[in-house]
Amino acid sequence: MEKKNSVFIETYGCQMNLADTEVVLGILRENGYTVAPSLQEADVVLMNTCSIRENAEERIYGRLGNMKTLKQSKPGLVVGVLGCMAERLRKDLMEEKKVVDLVVGPDEYRRIPEFIGLAIAGEKGIGVKLSKTETYDDIIPYREDGLSAYISVMRGCDKFCTFCVVPFTRGRERSRSLSSIVAEVRLLSERGFREVTLLGQNVNSYLDGEYDFADLLAAVAEVDRKIRVRFTTSHPQDMSEKLLYTIAAHQNLCKYIHLPVQSGSNRILDLMNRTYTVEHYLDLMEKARRIIPGVSFSTDIISGFPGETWEDHLATLDVMNKVRYDGAYMFKYSPREGTKAFRMVDDVAEEVKSKRLQEIISQQQRISAEINETLVGKLEVLLIEGASRKSEDFLAGRTDSNKIVIIPRKDEIGEGDYVEVKIKKGTSATLFGDFVKMVDKRITPVRSEAV
Ligand code: SAH
Ligand code: SF4
Ligand code: F3S
Repeated sequence: MEKKNSVFIETYGCQMNLADTEVVLGILRENGYTVAPSLQEADVVLMNTCSIRENAEERIYGRLGNMKTLKQSKPGLVVGVLGCMAERLRKDLMEEKKVVDLVVGPDEYRRIPEFIGLAIAGEKGIGVKLSKTETYDDIIPYREDGLSAYISVMRGCDKFCTFCVVPFTRGRERSRSLSSIVAEVRLLSERGFREVTLLGQNVNSYLDGEYDFADLLAAVAEVDRKIRVRFTTSHPQDMSEKLLYTIAAHQNLCKYIHLPVQSGSNRILDLMNRTYTVEHYLDLMEKARRIIPGVSFSTDIISGFPGETWEDHLATLDVMNKVRYDGAYMFKYSPREGTKAFRMVDDVAEEVKSKRLQEIISQQQRISAEINETLVGKLEVLLIEGASRKSEDFLAGRTDSNKIVIIPRKDEIGEGDYVEVKIKKGTSATLFGDFVKMVDKRITPVRSEAV
């Protein structure tokens, strides 16, 4: 039989899924599969999916329609659904969607080779058991060479915010060992990576024996001072002072914290089961600003949660004004079956949700633009990521505080270099600057063998 061994994975959803895709490719390569350069050239197409809001799922259903067409022109193509939607809609995907050959949830990725084998033999495969212990600790994720890597340090979530599917799609919280994470960062350092982002739904509850998340951050920061270390997401309930002091103490721990507030109303926060009050949240911010001078913040906000009144909405706008976030991810509430909020009446009319969301977005744009204007004339160190999206004549880099800065291209500046620039203009989304000096040129390692 013709060997079918090239795989292409499309990834949707959060950074956790990007990291999981690399884990899946690691597993597949160990089992003799190769990574296909494009969808058209693949024997196996896997979609790593997201369930967080209804529109995320609708998009995947649309994509499955495309896969059906592709399969007609390429009989024998194996199509699989991985990730949160596989976990949530297992039966529906298996029974209703003929195009789907395998459905595998986040904790059963080790079985994908077995399921592909079944699919090639004409049988469907499904693996959606959640695990209390699986962390893929021993798997070496497959990564292209690059600058920046995502590393999952924990999986699952025990918070059960009432609007959220993640505890159902990803199961219980569990942490990877500190030693395996440090070893992975060391490998990345040897390959010339310059940035790692440590991932978890709630990184502050990381625990490996006696090591907490602050210990993990410190250990990762010490591996290579030329590697910038980022992390996401922190939950406002569990953020410790020790963590803040750790960030302040290490020059390569980015002074940028993503701390989702979700709502500015205590009544809504309670209905959301977020387990903190606005006062606690603002206190935490003040403490962070005192301990880490110059720290910047971003947040997530949901508008139109069940029962949200005009006053609650104003309270959200108010908290945004008080904190003055550098950036925000803003969403309309989307009811998710199986969650506690699904049983509450979704009583904010669609057009009211949209209007409130628009107000939240406009206010954030204004605040971001004001903050960016205050940076004009200041010096910033950028990690150069490559050509700017709009023009080859410009380079794009990122500040410690996660802002993109565009500078004119220069021959001596390459991808992965740290350069100092002077900011000359700022809009709500982008900053523009001029090169001042090279801070650290990236040395690209000589590789003996492709991995
Ligand atoms: N663990 C992270 C976030 C995970 S999901 C945290 O607790 O902050 C990312 C964001 O999606 C959430 O912060 C929330 O703002 C949004 N979100 C989650 N469920 C949602 C829903 N049902 N409708 C709208 N937005 C939602
Ligand atoms: Fe969802 Fe809340 Fe867990 Fe975040 S902390 S993943 S919002 S349940
Ligand atoms: Fe989506 Fe699952 Fe991430 S629901 S946001 S892919 S954890």
